[in-house]
Amino acid sequence: MTQVLAVVSEIFPLIKTGGLADVAGALPAALAAEGVAVRSLVPGYPSVLDALDGGVAVASLNDLFGGPARIVAAQAAGLDLFAIDAPHLYARDGNPYRGPDGRDWPDNAFRFAALSHVSLALGNGLVEGYRPDVLHAHDWQAGLAPALLHYAGLARPRSVMTIHNLAFQGQYPPGLLTYLGLPQEALAVRGVEYYGAIGYLKAGLQFADRITTVSPTYAAEIRTSAGGMGLDGLLRARADVLSGILNGIDTAVWDPASDPHLAATFDADRLSQRSPNKAALQERFGLRRDPERLLFGVISRMSGQKGIDLLPPVLPMLVASGGQFVALGSGDPDLEAALRSAANANPADVGVVVGYDEALAHLIQGGCDALLMPSHFEPCGLTQLCAMRYGALPVVAHVGGLCDTVIDANEMALDAGIGTGFHFAPVQSDMLLAALLRVFAVWRQPDVWRRLQRNAMATDVGWRRPARRYAALYQELAQAARD
Ligand code: ADP
Ligand code: GLC
Repeated sequence: MTQVLAVVSEIFPLIKTGGLADVAGALPAALAAEGVAVRSLVPGYPSVLDALDGGVAVASLNDLFGGPARIVAAQAAGLDLFAIDAPHLYARDGNPYRGPDGRDWPDNAFRFAALSHVSLALGNGLVEGYRPDVLHAHDWQAGLAPALLHYAGLARPRSVMTIHNLAFQGQYPPGLLTYLGLPQEALAVRGVEYYGAIGYLKAGLQFADRITTVSPTYAAEIRTSAGGMGLDGLLRARADVLSGILNGIDTAVWDPASDPHLAATFDADRLSQRSPNKAALQERFGLRRDPERLLFGVISRMSGQKGIDLLPPVLPMLVASGGQFVALGSGDPDLEAALRSAANANPADVGVVVGYDEALAHLIQGGCDALLMPSHFEPCGLTQLCAMRYGALPVVAHVGGLCDTVIDANEMALDAGIGTGFHFAPVQSDMLLAALLRVFAVWRQPDVWRRLQRNAMATDVGWRRPARRYAALYQELAQAARD
């Protein structure tokens, strides 16, 4: 069996701020079915250590960036884990990246360098009997790992760097170089240097044997100056090892036929059973209970990436056309406030819950008719995959993974009976408005709407297909490491 060490800063259900955790949490089980054994190395945040009842310390380190650390091996939630128990770095409540004041933890450079250093040690035989073939680093938090492997001169494990979001790159002062355990020569364009700083993601992209990102379209976008966020030159130079592998979702967690968070379970043959969910949703958001109104939903981090700014200008027309709108999310206070004031202006048809609520996210998927994702950029996106599985038609910006996962119900697609949602471009309010007019036109044809719902629900959004692609990639690298 190919042995993979996944290095990742969040993992569902132990700790989650976004889709990265969902991917890290679901991929290992799918890979097991493909002959790949994954162990995941995660920081020992309080919620992680709490879940690791029965874990055993398999190694200890005297000084991991200013304090002692234990490496705890355990199984939890079906995952094989190594957690870094280092209280001076991770024993803090709340968000893994930011303190209660909303600012990044001041020692993030060390907190995540520690993650990479421990992965190097594990790759180099720290724990007896464990030697991974491949180290899989996820996002900037694990970006130093491929660089450390390189400078340590290790041929095994080989490394994969996956970009989940190029907007987060992890840049720190060059003066930290030695303290981070990197040689002087690393502070160079062909090293970890990035515009005068130490770039963690840059380091991973420079040295990983393979680079993946989470959709083929995003893999192309990030090689352009418009989408490359400063790293497009490097990504073009490494295009021969860069590929896009779409995400899936955990179809056991997201299953409308058995979902405990729904008012009524349903499937593609019992679509009328969606109605109690719509009613429950309207009630939860204090909207008028009207099954005829086309109910749009949003579940999102409220950040610039997600295009929440496009929504307030279209809501008056959406309501005037007989629609309703509910949103769940938190993040940027200005975006939260803009949606709140839209709800205050139209309380019977627009509702907002500011916060993070896993159960409500499920009810929205099961109760809304259409799910809006007006993202300015979207590496893959998972909420549109959940929406399809729940028969909520996604209305998406034509970017990144949204292009690759949703089939626009244009005239030809409708004729061919293959649409699963609606696209709009460019990503601006008036084009979203134009898409909404198309959505309303289809809504007025219940047979066509139902057809699209069934298409969406029949789409294979699980992890089997993507897991096969990762397995092939790992096996190729493992073979190379043995040769
Ligand atoms: P990203 O990782 O960029 O935030 P994704 O679409 O990949 O976007 O993943 C988002 C994940 O987080 C999904 O599982 C979605 O349901 C969940 N999510 C986002 N915001 C909330 C929220 N406010 N409450 C509950 N779940 C949320
Ligand atoms: C990032 C991206 C999102 C992707 C997720 C998991 O958070 O913003 O598009 O689905 O990672 O790969």
